[in-house]
Amino acid sequence: LEQYPHINKGLAGIVAFSTTKSFIDGQTGDLIYAGYHIDTLAENATFEEVCFLLWNDRLPNQEELDELHNKLRSERQLPEPVIEYIKNTRKDAEPMAVLRTAVSMLADFQDDSNDTNHAIAVTAQIPTIIAAFDRVRNGKEVVSPLDEGSTAFNFLYMLNGEKPGQAAEKTMNLCLVLHAEHGMNASTFTCRTICATESDMFSAVTGAIGALKGPLHGGANTAVMNMLLNLKEQGENADPVKFTKEKLNKKEKMMGFGHRVYKTFDPRAVHLRKMSKELSEETGHEYLYEWSEAMVKTMKEEKNIDPNVDFFSASVYYSIGIQPDLYTCIFTMSRISGWTAHFFEQKANNRLIRPRALYVGEKNLDWVPVEDR
Ligand code: SDX
Repeated sequence: LEQYPHINKGLAGIVAFSTTKSFIDGQTGDLIYAGYHIDTLAENATFEEVCFLLWNDRLPNQEELDELHNKLRSERQLPEPVIEYIKNTRKDAEPMAVLRTAVSMLADFQDDSNDTNHAIAVTAQIPTIIAAFDRVRNGKEVVSPLDEGSTAFNFLYMLNGEKPGQAAEKTMNLCLVLHAEHGMNASTFTCRTICATESDMFSAVTGAIGALKGPLHGGANTAVMNMLLNLKEQGENADPVKFTKEKLNKKEKMMGFGHRVYKTFDPRAVHLRKMSKELSEETGHEYLYEWSEAMVKTMKEEKNIDPNVDFFSASVYYSIGIQPDLYTCIFTMSRISGWTAHFFEQKANNRLIRPRALYVGEKNLDWVPVEDR
């Protein structure tokens, strides 16, 4: 393997694809989805417009947007066996594990092999799965989706059993816009790797959910909230600066900080930080925002490391009453748009993904019969 002398651990810095889906400038902290800056999208876009943008590399006109809304609405209901699975699985199962299994099951209920239809079906049904499991595990009736409203609106409706107000819908929509797409992150890479074997979209998305679940990736938002709740348990002695320094001294990771690409403030975190401030004040959770800011300052001073998308999203979701172990599921609800967009892109110009590993083991061992080992 002399031709591969250098190992890029974690594939750092390797460019393996070209894409029209997103651009990240890790030095300036800029993020663009298919031509549109994240700040522009955060201010103007609905999640459905972002889905269309990522799938088609352009914004929809009104007619196209209406059509997409209608298709999503008509696909939100889950097949009965998937609802049965959600009702019968363990109530204390990890929500991301339940979501992964349920999404995998959806493959069995598709009437065709059309990728566009599959993308719409899985985008429409992920929120229904998440809400249904949360209700079941809390001993509540499953709420069927409505034939009206946006993805954000319906998710909150199915989760809480009542229609959300405009402010809540807007918050959820913005979270979905901010998490939709992010280049060759681990879950999208997984999705493309599965797609590249000419497997199907449900397999690719199921694999991507498995990758997103881990705390070094999407699982970090739940881990951030657990960190903040650990601090809260210390009551009057809670000191976010001391907490951060102690963690660093123990060589532990501060969840929600650091990024392979960003060497500055994650531009999505700018929006989430603002939301976190507003919502924590509105809901009487000021301390969460204050602690978060103290952690940001300490991490900057101690390690020159900034927060990523998962840091402030935790206090945002907490303030709007969502259980911490659902946060990564909400990330999934959004990132499905990026995954499916990359699936289309990979399929349109496919090549099997198959890197090499440098063998560092023995080569000339003699066989020893089992009784002599
Ligand atoms: C997401 O890729 C994407 O785009 C992902 C994402 C998306 O939208 O898809 O942006 C979403 O996954 C965000 C990241 C969520 N994960 C976390 O918040 C977990 C905590 N962060 C890290 O463990 C870490 O920063 C990673 C996993 C995000 C990045 O890992 P890298 O690029 O492999 O960097 P590293 O672990 O090698 O760290 C480099 C240095 C080390 O110090 P030295 O050994 O060089 O002295 O930075 C330190 C690390 O110890 N460091 C941290 C730290 N993150 C990096 N130290 C303390 N706390 C941290 N969070």
